[in-house]
Amino acid sequence: MIEDIIKISREAGELIRDNFGKAHAIEFKTNELNLVTETDKASEKLITDFIRKKYPSHGILAEEGSELNKSAEYLWVIDPLDGTTNFAHGLPIFSVSIGLQKKGETIAGVVYDVNRDFIYSAEKNSGSFANGRRINVNKNKNLGHSMLVTGFPYDVKENPDKCYERFIEFLKHARAIRRLGSAAIDFCYIANGVFDGFWEVSLHPWDICAGKLIVEEAGGLVTDFDGNKIDIYSKRILCSNESIHQKMMNVLNSV
Ligand code: IPD
Ligand code: CA
Ligand code: CA
Repeated sequence: MIEDIIKISREAGELIRDNFGKAHAIEFKTNELNLVTETDKASEKLITDFIRKKYPSHGILAEEGSELNKSAEYLWVIDPLDGTTNFAHGLPIFSVSIGLQKKGETIAGVVYDVNRDFIYSAEKNSGSFANGRRINVNKNKNLGHSMLVTGFPYDVKENPDKCYERFIEFLKHARAIRRLGSAAIDFCYIANGVFDGFWEVSLHPWDICAGKLIVEEAGGLVTDFDGNKIDIYSKRILCSNESIHQKMMNVLNSV
């Protein structure tokens, strides 16, 4: 099925690219930070129409509301446009993220980095790839030499889970911190060795599903802030090259 996931991710990405830079019908979801455009919805329709037609017995969990038989043996977990705020403001950093679970375990994941035209893909126990070439996390052990990435939830103004304080603490310990605005791309840049670590609170299953497998298959680690295993429904995500994981946990838990 990985070839099908790649194919439909690419088609959705092409649809998004065709609409980038045009005027958008923007709606607010939970508040005025949390946007959705007609392109998010069109991308989700393209992907879910394909699944319903080709894999009618499969379940679907997608960000813009498509839900189908979530207890099916196979479940597709879909972010049709990860990085909507970037997209709506004209910043060319956004992706399509599709994970496939079998009986609750992620067996395949694809993230399409739309503007760099990079397909990140992984199948369980088979490694991670970027445009077909194997990728691995980096080997950096020094937090002070690290480039980290993070993101903020749409209720950031309420400072959930001390996200301001944790950000400030990492500023004191890391070489640099970035905030790209697409969690799926953040995971992939850990997998390909660009970033050393990533943390965020209040992510959703569609932000996590594909990226987590891509990182793990590239040799990285994804846990909660205490080092415990997580699933796609977990709210605290710590992801790293593994070598700096404990050091990042120490910083997160010092707040
Ligand atoms: C968002 C992005 C962002 C992260 C937010 C997500 P969306 O997803 O992944 O990087 O910080 O928490 O909600 O809304 O653009 O699909
Ligand atoms: Ca998202
Ligand atoms: Ca989205």
